[in-house]
Amino acid sequence: MSIDPHVFVIFGATGDLTKRKLIPALFHLMQNEDIAERCHVLGTARSDWSDDKFRSVAKEALRNADFDEADIDAWCDQRLFYQSLGEDGADFEALQHRIEDIEEQFDLPQNRAFYLSLPPRTYGPTIKQLGEQGLSESDGWTRVVIEKPFGQDLESAKELNDTVHAAFREDQVFRIDHYLGKETVQNLLVFRFANAMFESLWNRDRIERVEITVSENLGVGDRASYYDSSGHVRDMLQNHITQLLSLVTMEPPAAMEGDEIRQEKVKALRAVMPPSPEDVVFGQYSEGEVGGERVPAYTDEPDVPDDSDTETFVALRLEIANWRWRGVPFYIRSGKRLDKKRTQIAVVFQRAPIALFQPGGEPCIPEEAGCSAEPNVLLITLQPNEGFDLRFEVKSPETNSGDMQLDTQHLSFSYRDAFGPIPDAYTTLLRDVITGDQTLFVRSDEVEASWRLYTPLLDADLPVHDYPAGSWGPDETFELLPSWVDGDLRDDGRR
Ligand code: BG6
Repeated sequence: MSIDPHVFVIFGATGDLTKRKLIPALFHLMQNEDIAERCHVLGTARSDWSDDKFRSVAKEALRNADFDEADIDAWCDQRLFYQSLGEDGADFEALQHRIEDIEEQFDLPQNRAFYLSLPPRTYGPTIKQLGEQGLSESDGWTRVVIEKPFGQDLESAKELNDTVHAAFREDQVFRIDHYLGKETVQNLLVFRFANAMFESLWNRDRIERVEITVSENLGVGDRASYYDSSGHVRDMLQNHITQLLSLVTMEPPAAMEGDEIRQEKVKALRAVMPPSPEDVVFGQYSEGEVGGERVPAYTDEPDVPDDSDTETFVALRLEIANWRWRGVPFYIRSGKRLDKKRTQIAVVFQRAPIALFQPGGEPCIPEEAGCSAEPNVLLITLQPNEGFDLRFEVKSPETNSGDMQLDTQHLSFSYRDAFGPIPDAYTTLLRDVITGDQTLFVRSDEVEASWRLYTPLLDADLPVHDYPAGSWGPDETFELLPSWVDGDLRDDGRR
């Protein structure tokens, strides 16, 4: 699909996301496709910056991202603009004139993307102003991109959807979840629906349980002002992790098209049963050691109140009430300041009905105490070391029948070994915004289906257990599931 000339308006252009992700992604995209002259970026924020100031910040960001020096100056000087913006109608009118000026200067059609990289409480008012100013329609295309979190709970998400729909049609709305732009997350669909071998095993008859781990070793950093009032359920579970869950559990779509895929994702989410409080563990990190270094407790991080009980960890057990999954537990754990950065899905298959290879030779039933039988596990690693591992049992050499010993081995595939570096999620997603492909964006009913699951937990005032930084979470996590799949690399460093 070709990229139309357009104006890309960033609300919150002085913020961190613009520097770290949006400007590098747009620049990369335009360079890659050799169409730098099609993208004109208009940054807006409250700060009284000039075009030059915005350009110099963007140049520094691009240099830090290791782009080719020569191309940076030309693009920034010719295609980047800045307009300071308050909240009044007059400010939005001035914004409209500035967009029209740029369109006139470069003889552009009225194609406009509005990217809201703003504090979430300002989404509603900004969208309203865009609507009232007549900026939600144009002679070309107009799209609005909304960062997460989309709402704080089910009710506020519904309200925000109503505000959005009063100004924009759903086909203009791109609710972004950067996990959907990750190459390996998209590959989940290909892996499932282009490999009939796995798909025929992908159900309650063959799968014993599924474990999803999304762990980070970093702490809250300097984001406490946002994170402390959000917590981990809103920051990770309601969006990124639920997207992984729906891609793993959805039915095959009728076609690989945006709405067909999103339809199946919503259907899967609607079948998930809201977890009861006893199936949920909240935690908050205390002081500990990560990567050999002492790190402070969450409540000692900058800008976190001493008495904060915000959860920095969540583990839960979910069940899905549909034909494919009924009875298969889905275990999820995710948190900050855990042992390692890892995003992994472990599909644990049912064990052989009788375990034949036992010390002493006497068969036993895998579910009985003392009977040892390893399940096959498909480990899908989304980051780091993206790839797949299929674990299976082999005979250890020189052990014989009667005393045959088994050893777990791996069939492995590494994305990087096969294809080299993986593109950044934002480059993929911004390309889709500009070309108008909504497949990797979250639909209004999807957001609401997800909030329906977690809003009761947020209202339930669950206890928040302590866990030392550098561990795998509170001990209560191991009451939920005593033995989580160990997803580490093998000793030789290969997958
Ligand atoms: C963001 C969260 O959406 O995702 C952060 O706000 C989190 O708290 C980040 O650290 C994790 O993303 P990734 O791509 O590093 O797994």
